[in-house]
Amino acid sequence: MLSVEDNEVLTRTGRGTPMGELFRRFWIPALLSSELPQQGGPAVKVGLLGEKLIAFRGKDGKVGLLESRCPHRHANLYWGRNEEDGLRCVYHGWKFGFDGACLDMPAEPVDSTYKDRVKAVAYPTHEAGGIIWTYLGPADVQPDFPLHDWTLLPESHSYVSKRHQRCNYFQNIEGELDTAHVQFLHRELGEHDFAPQKRFDTTGNPEYTIAETPVGMLAVAQRALPDGGSYWRITPFLMPASTIVPARVGERYTFTAAIPIDDTSMWGFTVTWLADRPLSAEELERERSGLGLHVRVDPETFVPVANMDNDYLRDLEVMATQNFTGIMGVRSQDLPVQEDQDGPICERHAEHLGTTDRAIVAARRLMLRTAKSLAQGIEPTQPQRADAFRQRSLAGDGTAGQTWDELFNAAQHQGQEQTA
Ligand code: FES
Ligand SMILES: [Fe+2]
Repeated sequence: MLSVEDNEVLTRTGRGTPMGELFRRFWIPALLSSELPQQGGPAVKVGLLGEKLIAFRGKDGKVGLLESRCPHRHANLYWGRNEEDGLRCVYHGWKFGFDGACLDMPAEPVDSTYKDRVKAVAYPTHEAGGIIWTYLGPADVQPDFPLHDWTLLPESHSYVSKRHQRCNYFQNIEGELDTAHVQFLHRELGEHDFAPQKRFDTTGNPEYTIAETPVGMLAVAQRALPDGGSYWRITPFLMPASTIVPARVGERYTFTAAIPIDDTSMWGFTVTWLADRPLSAEELERERSGLGLHVRVDPETFVPVANMDNDYLRDLEVMATQNFTGIMGVRSQDLPVQEDQDGPICERHAEHLGTTDRAIVAARRLMLRTAKSLAQGIEPTQPQRADAFRQRSLAGDGTAGQTWDELFNAAQHQGQEQTA
């Protein structure tokens, strides 16, 4: 459980809140590159950390990210005219550049210098890996752009998607770090409900080890194998809101990010990549099918096709005969338990944690400790370690006596000559 006060700190990310300020020390995913396909095309609305923004692509492909309200009388710049070197508000024609500078104020007298004193709120952007990233924090502590395995690869090696999720960001992060749910929520039914399957039921429940890293932590889950070895699942947590789903070496890795739109909804970014070759047409099709870690979404709103309003397309016949939930697709199965967990903000003071919740407890502590320190004026070190975000997960068997860090370190380097 968490005190009511700590739950507030953990879940509130508006400007001026401790966690909101911590998020504003990191580069975060803002939108997909594919949402702005065309230079000089229309602006799109982007909600981030309680702020209402608009993004537009100018000439040379550069992306501007501005507060959506026009500094004049707050008309939404979403309706603006994209003039390629800036965006012109359609109400009275004021025009703003990528840095927020007012470039034109045609309704004011020609000799007026007023435009030199008016600025729109503007944020820097960086495009990498099919995602437009931004930094919403103070300029004097703006970190270098973080390196990730998949942002360093050709785009053919990865598949990127985004979904709108109706809950606080941390409910999603907890789901990503909680390996114990996999053998229940995502279970395919065998001959009887709890038939051993895959590697999850070797002895049942995982034991956790937590190891802090320069940019977050590793949730190391160990399940004993009958031969005395262990099945390891290692999930890196990259602050402030990302994880890498455990995968076997040579299989597809998947990066996730839970980015608050506001305190009760979030963008779920998911990137699946292969370190050493492009994804095949068949592999791409599997990701697009919505049966794995990506969901099918409405192309305009990014709301999942299977959502709370249609009971996530739960089929009771499937629930009786095929899988644990009656819902098809791994990510679709995650959504009901994350979105309907007290509703959009989980009341953690009333929960009853078990031994398999050690990883989420550790992540809460790390985030709370860092956010509270920042509120006292101590800047976090994690955002400044751009080099240390480049991590991979691990799922794999170890022999008796083999330690997890041996396996994990080997996985970090496999195939990296191709991505160096
Ligand atoms: S409100 Fe934008 S120019 Fe007047
Ligand atoms: Fe899950």
